[in-house]
Amino acid sequence: MKEKLENIKKEAVEGLEKASTIEELEKLRVKYLGRKGPLTQLLRNLKDVSPEERPLIGKMANSIKESLEESFSRKLNLIRKRERKIDLSQGEDITLPGRRPQMGTIHPITQLSNEIIDIFLKMGFFLAEGPEIETEYYNFEALNTPPDHPVRDTQDSFYLAEKTILRTQTSPVQIRVMEKFKPPVRIVSAGRCFRRDATDASHTPMFHQMEVFQVDKGITFAHLKGVLEVFVQSFFGRKTKLRFRPSFFPFTEPSAEIDISCVICQGKGCPVCRKKGWLEILGSGMIDPFVLKTVGYDPEKVSGYAFGMGIERIAMLKYGIDDIRLFFENDLRFLRQF
Ligand code: DAH
Repeated sequence: MKEKLENIKKEAVEGLEKASTIEELEKLRVKYLGRKGPLTQLLRNLKDVSPEERPLIGKMANSIKESLEESFSRKLNLIRKRERKIDLSQGEDITLPGRRPQMGTIHPITQLSNEIIDIFLKMGFFLAEGPEIETEYYNFEALNTPPDHPVRDTQDSFYLAEKTILRTQTSPVQIRVMEKFKPPVRIVSAGRCFRRDATDASHTPMFHQMEVFQVDKGITFAHLKGVLEVFVQSFFGRKTKLRFRPSFFPFTEPSAEIDISCVICQGKGCPVCRKKGWLEILGSGMIDPFVLKTVGYDPEKVSGYAFGMGIERIAMLKYGIDDIRLFFENDLRFLRQF
């Protein structure tokens, strides 16, 4: 009888080890522990066992029953866990930690604009904004650039309607501000400009400019030089040198282009400055009396200077970037560096 019990236990344990699904396990449970199972039968028929053996066999059968029950329930948990795990890996795993939303950053061009604007705000300039959709009048005519002026060739425009364009420069802000406010005016303005240029490493049809100007009694070229020096040295570093080259813009007279000593090689000559030691950064000049008259100022009484620069160009020089298109491709590997 003892042996029979041992065998039942052995068989049951072996079956238990092989069982891999809840159904298989349930069948086994019914087989060994069910009402018709050998253990139940044996316990029910204990009276057939000899009185000497009865207590021992009864005890043994009970303990086997208990240990099997425990093994079954352990195995059931194991299978359940495994099955649930398989379920989860196929569907949604609600136990995974959530994904953090990615934090955006400010675009490098916007960062630089803000940085430059701050320099001028500290010097007492006011911030102005002009429309991106402009009329030919504000973008050209009022800036002393009549329809047949050759300069218009270099600023091929996007036309939205007759005489309505996307501004090709931020200079029309000068006109809009001066029409509204009497001198003195001290303005900084930044924003998008548009030209029908073919895209290449240094041109994109949309780019950013910054415009700065001041009109007051007795403003001279010396003021222009002073303001530019403060700006260039606070932005590019104290040791940066400035160079004025005579140039031409329809709305300034005289006009000058401004170079700074190369920020990469400090003027020694390198690939960025093409061995010249100087980098061209902006156009400037004394506001043409024609422009002052056009907005109703008296050029005999007031005078002013103006300058304008491309922000992408400044950014490329500051960070040593050799292709303007990188700013607008939305490549996070590029944008995350700023
Ligand atoms: N608007 C000019 C351009 O797009 C840049 C410029 C030159 C602006 C001279 C000025 C200036 O205010 O005085 O090329």
